[in-house]
Amino acid sequence: MTDVERWKARAAHAALDHVRSGMIVGLGTGSTALHMVRELGRRLATHEVQDVRGVATSVATERLAREAKVPLIDLPADGVDVAIDGMDEVTTTLDAIKGLGGAFTREKIVAAAAKRFLLIGDRTKQVAFLGDRAPVPVEVVAFGWRRTAELLRALGADPVLRTERGEPVVTDNGQVVIDCRMRGGFDAPAFAAAADALPGVVAHGLFLGMTERAFLAGPDGIEELVAPGRAVEPGSGAAGATGRA
Ligand code: A5P
Repeated sequence: MTDVERWKARAAHAALDHVRSGMIVGLGTGSTALHMVRELGRRLATHEVQDVRGVATSVATERLAREAKVPLIDLPADGVDVAIDGMDEVTTTLDAIKGLGGAFTREKIVAAAAKRFLLIGDRTKQVAFLGDRAPVPVEVVAFGWRRTAELLRALGADPVLRTERGEPVVTDNGQVVIDCRMRGGFDAPAFAAAADALPGVVAHGLFLGMTERAFLAGPDGIEELVAPGRAVEPGSGAAGATGRA
């Protein structure tokens, strides 16, 4: 295992310590979430936790969870206890960009339905400003995508249809993704609100004000960042605090 994979696994395992028996857990998508799903399967097999059920955020995670023997259910009407997912960028105030894996619409539905949303990743994902490295992915209805791309351009984005081997990438929802490269220091809340209001937009990868805490692992261990005022677990550290394990 490479160092980065080891860091991803450490972050995933630390977040899983917030999962207790009987909980319903939103299972994220991506190479970091993969470690979380496998470790949850291991903890269920060894009875370290019991009666935990997962809600998968993609077809890939569904497959992974079945392999790891994590019982799956559909997203219940009253949501999930906790959702754990990776990210592509995260700021110190825990705003994030997600979706380079293309699963962000389902990820956002589950994260928004979670009492607690936890991010996991290696330290390289931390940025000073959103859009530093990653584009903002926007899932749009395939019908009329060129028009929607133009409307995104009018919001300040440099929009590019996501392709693989020359073909448009089709999401689990049967739609396409437009990656929006943003200018440095763009107004993320304003872009998010304006993009949400476009008729062809399904969802975008800006996760603003949703995350309770992030586990970032690197060569010096794990840093746990808690969003100001968003910590919900008693005894888990003061809101706004950061700690290193
Ligand atoms: C999937 O759509 C994404 O939101 C991923 O969660 C995100 O891209 C992080 O992926 P990795 O853990 O593979 O870096």
